[in-house]
Amino acid sequence: MNSLNRDLCQMVSRAEAADLPKANKDPHRLRFHLMPPVGWMNDPNGLCWYQGNYHVFFQYRPFSAEGSGVVFWGHYTSPDFIHWTQQPVFLTPSETWDLHGVYSGSALVTDDGLYLYYTGNVKHPGNHDYIHTGRGHNTGLAISKDGIKVDSNQLLLENCDYPADLTCHVRDPKVWEQSGKFYMVLGARTKEDRGEILVYESVDKVNWTHINTITTPQVFGYMWECPDLFVLDGQCIVSLSPQGVSKSGNHYQNIYSCGYFPLYGDFRGEYTLGEFTESDIGFDYYAPQSFEAPDGRRIVIGWMGMPDADYTNPTVERGWQHGMSVPRELHWNGERIITAPVKELENLHGERKDITFDGEATCEWKEGADICITNNSDCLEVLLGDSLKIDYNAGILTLKLAEASGYGRTQRVAEVKKLRTLRILVDTSSIELFINEGEQVMTSRWYPECAETMELRGKGSAIIYNMDAMEVKFMV
Ligand code: FRU
Repeated sequence: MNSLNRDLCQMVSRAEAADLPKANKDPHRLRFHLMPPVGWMNDPNGLCWYQGNYHVFFQYRPFSAEGSGVVFWGHYTSPDFIHWTQQPVFLTPSETWDLHGVYSGSALVTDDGLYLYYTGNVKHPGNHDYIHTGRGHNTGLAISKDGIKVDSNQLLLENCDYPADLTCHVRDPKVWEQSGKFYMVLGARTKEDRGEILVYESVDKVNWTHINTITTPQVFGYMWECPDLFVLDGQCIVSLSPQGVSKSGNHYQNIYSCGYFPLYGDFRGEYTLGEFTESDIGFDYYAPQSFEAPDGRRIVIGWMGMPDADYTNPTVERGWQHGMSVPRELHWNGERIITAPVKELENLHGERKDITFDGEATCEWKEGADICITNNSDCLEVLLGDSLKIDYNAGILTLKLAEASGYGRTQRVAEVKKLRTLRILVDTSSIELFINEGEQVMTSRWYPECAETMELRGKGSAIIYNMDAMEVKFMV
């Protein structure tokens, strides 16, 4: 640990002590989602199970709720996804090769400690566009014995080590072990504005060789951020957050997208990619990362936010912004990924109400709810709180937000041939919608005066659980 690192850690603690009381007074603080203590949160990083805890590191800008300034790695741990403890800031931008931000990365659990691979961002002074020149995107490795503090860190790869046809944008290493070797995928932007994934291999976790590149035959966006690669129920999946994919019909409605390709063949050699499917089609979901839980489940957490969006979040005035999705369990059904909230969230269930409706029905809860609707008709209308409407009609499900609570969010659309079930997680300022047991998901922030009521119109039944708050122990 160098002196810059020590100074930065102290500055973060001071900022948290000063700003946390104000943030915690915000009625829109989330109750069962992770959020930054203060300041700004983006991508989940280094997700893993290590020494009896889940670890959620995250992109953290403690000094600015607007997201300016250099980025750190914040850190939460939990044994059960319900009781969380904030840990000291894990990575600070304090090496020559990560001075302007410790960008996203991932964890590898090894016998000699937790290995965290990440991108060190460096911006060189001068007249640069920071895409083609002026930026260092360095792959670094931090090793931690206890998973809480960094014991050593080192530079592994720098821009001159990446293929020559790339811009300076090469980042977000995701690392895993397979058949006695180690693999890393990195997101990249070529000089011709094509998004790609670089595949690296290593036998010792430190020396890495570029062995393959994964991309589409036709250009699909100019940059692929936050790549992930894993086998799900026998199917190899390549997950990514592409930038520059244009809106097309009801698809790619956000400025940036995230989703996945099934990969057929060998990611290390010959392969083809199947059709791209968006992993979430709400307003606020990006840069998801997955990991394997100790019981073998593939769990994903996404950033409940969207970079460069033209909608906003009023929490900025209270000194914080953004959050994480709930942890979600993934399965492959032979055609697509099925996504469901992890079962641990059921431990937050409070009072249960059962409704059957043929016509209209209403219901109330306190602060948060987990709602499971079974739909028995071609139309359904769900009005949540004072301002959010889910409308299903003629094979189209629309999520509509009123101006007062959407802050620029208007509507998002899902194509749903037959709506069977709708599971809705409602927090004080977020909703997550799992359509037909999670065939499609929509995640959004919203800022209602009151989010604690529901009106249903249609024919079906509903189970509504009050959701208790998770426990989050902040450091201050
Ligand atoms: C995605 C991203 C990553 C990068 C990080 C920086 O949201 O742009 O590509 O590592 O955020 O905070």
